[in-house]
Amino acid sequence: MSEPTVPEPHYRTIIEPHRIKVVEPIRMTTRAERTALLGRAGFNLFTLAADDVLIDLLTDSGTAAMSAEQWAAVVRADESYAGSRSFFRFEAAVKDIFGHQHVIPTHQGRAAERILFGCTVRPGQVVPSNNHFDTTRANIEFAGAEAVDLVIAEGRVPSSQHPFKGNMDVARLEALLAARKADVPLVMLTVTNNSGGGQPVALENIRAVSALCRRVGVPFFLDACRFAENAFFIHQREPAERGRPVGEIAREMLRLADGCTMSAKKDGMANTGGFIVTDDDALAQRMRNLLILTEGFPTYGGMAGRDLEAIAQGLYEALDPDYLTYRARSTAYLGERLLAAGVPIVEPPGGHAIYIDAAQLCPHIPPPQFPGQAVVCGLYRTGGIRSVEIGSVMFGGGQNSSAAAARLELVRLAIPRRVYTQSHIDYVVEAAVELFAQRNKLRGLRMVYEPPVLRHFTARFEEI
Ligand SMILES: Cc1ncc(COP(=O)(O)O)c(C=O)c1O
Repeated sequence: MSEPTVPEPHYRTIIEPHRIKVVEPIRMTTRAERTALLGRAGFNLFTLAADDVLIDLLTDSGTAAMSAEQWAAVVRADESYAGSRSFFRFEAAVKDIFGHQHVIPTHQGRAAERILFGCTVRPGQVVPSNNHFDTTRANIEFAGAEAVDLVIAEGRVPSSQHPFKGNMDVARLEALLAARKADVPLVMLTVTNNSGGGQPVALENIRAVSALCRRVGVPFFLDACRFAENAFFIHQREPAERGRPVGEIAREMLRLADGCTMSAKKDGMANTGGFIVTDDDALAQRMRNLLILTEGFPTYGGMAGRDLEAIAQGLYEALDPDYLTYRARSTAYLGERLLAAGVPIVEPPGGHAIYIDAAQLCPHIPPPQFPGQAVVCGLYRTGGIRSVEIGSVMFGGGQNSSAAAARLELVRLAIPRRVYTQSHIDYVVEAAVELFAQRNKLRGLRMVYEPPVLRHFTARFEEI
């Protein structure tokens, strides 16, 4: 594999390092149509049909465009129930990159979490991380334990320019382990830190967490969904690692942990899939026993042979330096253009998404009227863009109260891998800037239907 791209010094434009072989039409809609669709959807974009969306930035998970090599592998796949050749190819790729002895396939990331925590966590225990992702937290709580976030203070400040806002606060972790070591079945670290804005974790920080866990004797697991993006940020931003090959950084990072959970829907460049890795023979045995109950036989674990093939190829493509240069640059490009137009975002731009600070964008809408959701609806009405609120709709309320506010009111624009071109992103910027100019006209929302759990998926609203 070639090593990091040094763009031609006199060219500012970093091109998409791929060309298009198959196209998927986008259905064009008018503002009047979108206004009607928004009303019918109860101002909740999760309930829209995808065909009614022009640019879909709802998530980067499972939405990647696969390469010609991945499609070729899909056709070559072996769909045998047991001992499929595709499993061995998948296992070899995961072992090569992740460096752990046991590879346990699951249908997606949360299934990996459910199985790992089901075999390690007991009621009353505590599992620390920088920031737990929603499904990680939910699976820990389902096992009766407490999920604790110990990200550094800068990681909670949208305007902080710290290069590694996903870092674990090692001093707080040490204090927790000193006080409650017997209650900590494992320590997690999410790379990159999705719930904290897609911000990376420094290699130095991963080394420190690893050394502390080994000294204390507590297993250390990575939530490795965006391991390649994290390795690239280390390569770019960490002075001691600058210029070191990204694949080498990723391999060191993944080996510093005792194991990982992985959603292959992110840096597996696949549309579904996941896995767990570990070197612990007894734990692997327990997890395989549970796997058979809920996911499937240990050589497919809830995936088809074709998914195993797509991931085996995709993991290498995610580490390609030209791809990573384009990935980081194109996400940063969206962030920089929004900032230049005055649109407030979480800084610096993360790896997979840009987060608009809705509280700052529309201070006239108080948290109980959901400023983030107002921006989400505004972006759809203006440009047919689907984004997601990460604020008081998602994290506020509870106990049938819509009054409690979240800590931040954000709108996430997640970038699917290899799907959109620069002109799509220019269009997003144009629509967002138009919305920004008319931000005073945005109206708050009233929640008229609140489901009992995970309300953001199916809640319905009216405009105030
Ligand atoms: C950091 C992180 N962990 C875990 C998951 C869960 O993965 P999946 O959606 O494949 O279940 C996600 C998904 O978005 C994630 O971003």
